[in-house]
Amino acid sequence: MSPQSPKIPYGGDYNPEQWPQEVQDEDHRLFTRAGIDTLTVGVFLWSLSQPAEDVYDFTALDGVLDRAAAAGRQVCLATGTAALPPWLAARYPEVNRTDFEGRRHRYGQRHNFCPSSPAYRRTATALAERLAERYAAHPALLAWHVNNEYGGACYCDLCGTAFRHWLRERHGSLAALNDAWWTAFWSHRYTDWDQIEPPSALTEHWRGPDHTALQGITLDYRRFMTDALLGCFTAEKEAIRRHDPETPVTTNFMGMYRPVDYHRWAPHLDFASWDCYPPLDAPPTWSALGHDLMRGLKDGAPFWLMEQTPSTTACRDVNPLRRPGELRLATFQAVAHGADAALFFQLRASRGACEKYHGAVIGHAGRDDTRVFGEVADLGKELELLGPVTLGARTPARTALLFDWDSWWALEMSDGPSRLVGYQETVHAYYGAARAAGADLDVVPQGADLTPYDVVLAPVLHLVKADLAPRLEAVAARGGTVLATFLSGRVDEHDRAFLTDVPGPLADLMGVRIDEWDARPAEFVQTVPELRATARLVFEIVLPRGAETVATYGTDFYAGTPAVTRHAYGKGEAWYVATALDQPGVDRVVHRVLARHGLHGPYAGHPTVEAAQRVAPDGTRLLFLLNHAREAAPLTAHATATELLTGKRVEQGEVLTLDPLGAVVLRLQ
Ligand code: GLA
Ligand code: ZN
Repeated sequence: MSPQSPKIPYGGDYNPEQWPQEVQDEDHRLFTRAGIDTLTVGVFLWSLSQPAEDVYDFTALDGVLDRAAAAGRQVCLATGTAALPPWLAARYPEVNRTDFEGRRHRYGQRHNFCPSSPAYRRTATALAERLAERYAAHPALLAWHVNNEYGGACYCDLCGTAFRHWLRERHGSLAALNDAWWTAFWSHRYTDWDQIEPPSALTEHWRGPDHTALQGITLDYRRFMTDALLGCFTAEKEAIRRHDPETPVTTNFMGMYRPVDYHRWAPHLDFASWDCYPPLDAPPTWSALGHDLMRGLKDGAPFWLMEQTPSTTACRDVNPLRRPGELRLATFQAVAHGADAALFFQLRASRGACEKYHGAVIGHAGRDDTRVFGEVADLGKELELLGPVTLGARTPARTALLFDWDSWWALEMSDGPSRLVGYQETVHAYYGAARAAGADLDVVPQGADLTPYDVVLAPVLHLVKADLAPRLEAVAARGGTVLATFLSGRVDEHDRAFLTDVPGPLADLMGVRIDEWDARPAEFVQTVPELRATARLVFEIVLPRGAETVATYGTDFYAGTPAVTRHAYGKGEAWYVATALDQPGVDRVVHRVLARHGLHGPYAGHPTVEAAQRVAPDGTRLLFLLNHAREAAPLTAHATATELLTGKRVEQGEVLTLDPLGAVVLRLQ
């Protein structure tokens, strides 16, 4: 169930509570100029809406919603439970988190409530319920935005107790838990549930959250914390549903955010949404991977881009400005990957506090003749032109990439073979290779239905759950291709090694056996001659058991042994990449995998051009072409189409020139 809007909702976080009435009048004038039709309001309103435990005051919010409705604008209404009011923390200190070092925090900041605190749960839920009661039927209401960027972790005694309950549910008995966590190691056998402590710097950890003596407990604590935060979300959602049976509910995620396993949340959201702030100098595929991961949460249903900056962030040491054209390109990229809304943080810059220099549609001078305002307004016009055509459209992907939080956690908390292997970086390398070849991808969890896919990429799938291996075998058996890499198939769901040859349950499919592996510092580089590539970090020594060698290591005592293999399996095949290849190496392997299934896109030869397809509910086929270079990109149109933003017809074979940082949306005939 997604929000119903006549076009892509355009606008973003809006905090009129920070301003006097006159400023709001001016805001609405400027919103109209910029084509802004959607306001996310109430995200940080708790202390105003509820100035004391028994006092609610919705005067400000009433005004904001009524004014939005009067101006014909839609509202994404936040419950505002992410930043606590001071009275709550003063009255119930338990709402404040205890950190990893064991320090009980006091009032301050935001996003730092204890998810197990009954006082927090009670007050947050009551607030959500009152809001729903009051605004469920408001004409401006488009969607509910619960809380904000759930994340982090708490290690307080309340969380400790909740963790032990969660463990009883999960493991059933102490015997099962002792076995799952392999507690005979270092004398950890528990004889009473109460002996179990949250894994923190005071207990199992040293050098931070990734260094734990007992991986099993740390893995379970991350799952528990994911579920504890989720419990806060579902409690608010239930409170909303008591008064509003219909309006879609979401919360804004953060893409590849390690602390929270969004796949555990996905069934509870009506639609997914996320805040896209790519790391400094990240290639465009980084955001694209985030978009595809978010789209994968709801089986490919469109998501909302809940936040992006129109110009600059403020939270980093150095905050570069988006160059002219970059905002437009990033927005069309989001739409190309499944965004059905394009929202900013923020519409008006706050005057004080830590985000006063964060980019905004309206800056401190309140001008509408700045470059940024101009670009936002131009984009607003284009989205209006686009109308409803992209809404509800889906990505016709035949390639899946498995993304798994458990593997991410297990890999990065592993002692040995190497702390230098990054989960996101490795996944991104394979994702980037497939995108460079022009393939559309679905980024899906381990449990996803794999039957729609010709190719399944499973990079660093360290932890393998349940029946994944037979389902991957089925992909290859029916003619598909499965690719796995080094450090895959190593541990079970409890982070216990499989008592079999590496890569464990994937070994039959891959047709290899791995008895030993080498790890070297980042500077150490091996050649992989057949791929004209290099390899680093981890070098698994592969003994083919049915697989053929595609490429070999060039150095050391294992020179000449396989680094990449291919195994014929049923009507299909399985590829194993035993080392961290450089990007050209990954590109060449993925290129061959996709070529077998004809999955290369028609514009794959243009390294700076990204192509992405969406198919609208009425069958309309859309192709987005995005030029990430600062130079124009001349292409040859692969099909006859209509360019939706200009209305121009493009004939097959005609030259189609993309502007520098240009984006076009083609409706294919
Ligand atoms: C997050 C938050 C916003 C704001 C922005 C700034 O996404 O949700 O409230 O702090 O970051 O980039
Ligand atoms: Zn807690």
